[in-house]
Amino acid sequence: MPHPIDLTVAPLDELLRRRSEKGAGCAPGVLSSTIAEMDFPLAAPVADALRGAIGRSDLGYASEAIPELAAAFTDFAARRLNWRVDPAQVSVIPDVMVGVGALATVLAGDARAVAFASPAYPPFFGNPPRAGLDVRPVPLRDGGELDLDALHAELATGTTVFLLANPHNPTGRVLPRAELEAIAETCAAHDAWVLADEIHAPLVLPGAVHTPWLEVSDAARERGVSLISASKAFNLAGLKAALLVTASDRARDVVAGLPPLSDHTGLLGVLGAEAAFAHGDAWLDAVLAQLDHNRTLLGELLATALPDVRWTPPEGTYLAWLDCRALGLGDDPSAAFLERGRVALGTGPRYGAEGAGFVRLNFGTSPELVEEAVRRMAATL
Ligand SMILES: Cc1ncc(COP(=O)(O)O)c(C=O)c1O
Repeated sequence: MPHPIDLTVAPLDELLRRRSEKGAGCAPGVLSSTIAEMDFPLAAPVADALRGAIGRSDLGYASEAIPELAAAFTDFAARRLNWRVDPAQVSVIPDVMVGVGALATVLAGDARAVAFASPAYPPFFGNPPRAGLDVRPVPLRDGGELDLDALHAELATGTTVFLLANPHNPTGRVLPRAELEAIAETCAAHDAWVLADEIHAPLVLPGAVHTPWLEVSDAARERGVSLISASKAFNLAGLKAALLVTASDRARDVVAGLPPLSDHTGLLGVLGAEAAFAHGDAWLDAVLAQLDHNRTLLGELLATALPDVRWTPPEGTYLAWLDCRALGLGDDPSAAFLERGRVALGTGPRYGAEGAGFVRLNFGTSPELVEEAVRRMAATL
């Protein structure tokens, strides 16, 4: 009999003793709902794989050759994402943002710029400038769709890289196939590359379907690279292993020409990801059911305790993008929620100009802590 999956979340004071970024830096008693880490206990197959490596004293460098991880991911992609991946077109990198930086650096052309939809995961704004690249945010429409005319106008200025987060952070929207096809056509018309950040793809919630970028069209495959990882869905961000996936000779040659990145990859990340992709389905299914439940609960709590907060329930991820503009807490409502409510939320303006008046709440935790987060937000008012 397989073990039932235990997703019991540790008490708040214990969570705050964790050394990862979500809890570190929080004052005692603050409820941290910031960084995209979940509070659930690790999946047992992943924990076993990590313990196994320690038992073997197997903590050396990660190898560039990853046949077991590529095979585990290929099977996972076919099983869960309806995505046919060629294991020969899968390579390992330390994390998604390192991959974005390396690819954007070689693909950015004369314009030396990266476009992406805004609001956006804050490092989209911060990382490219460190690599000497400009950032060109393209505002999302109110419903969360990409403004294709604005993308077209941006690419017409000579920008050759579009960084596409799907599922999207912070809105949690899962882009429909037709919108992805239109993005692929627009980018192809300008010879622009798409870096498809699909890190949240394994976290698509019941009711939505993720379309992998490399399954969208020939145009998408020709000038597209997918970046994906087990790190968000299985909570392994500190272990440092992610994947670059391609599906055309042209894209594969771009990846082959990158400076070697596997040197900086963590062996525990490779082993953890392999175990997660190969043996993590039952745990992931339990997490998705819990997140679905928490999403519904959050909607009910907001409707009762904070009826002026507007939101569109996310279709993927465990992130809720909350429009607090009607609360009169200014451009950065997270400051008042932290100071008066003792709940730390994602700071809207860090996600771009479109984030003014918003906060991001992380519901990858117990229903009790989701309730506590909303209670603290309401108490702020
Ligand atoms: C859309 C998106 N991309 C990238 C990352 C970071 O990925 P990594 O830690 O692999 O660089 C995150 C983390 O939350 C994210 O939400």
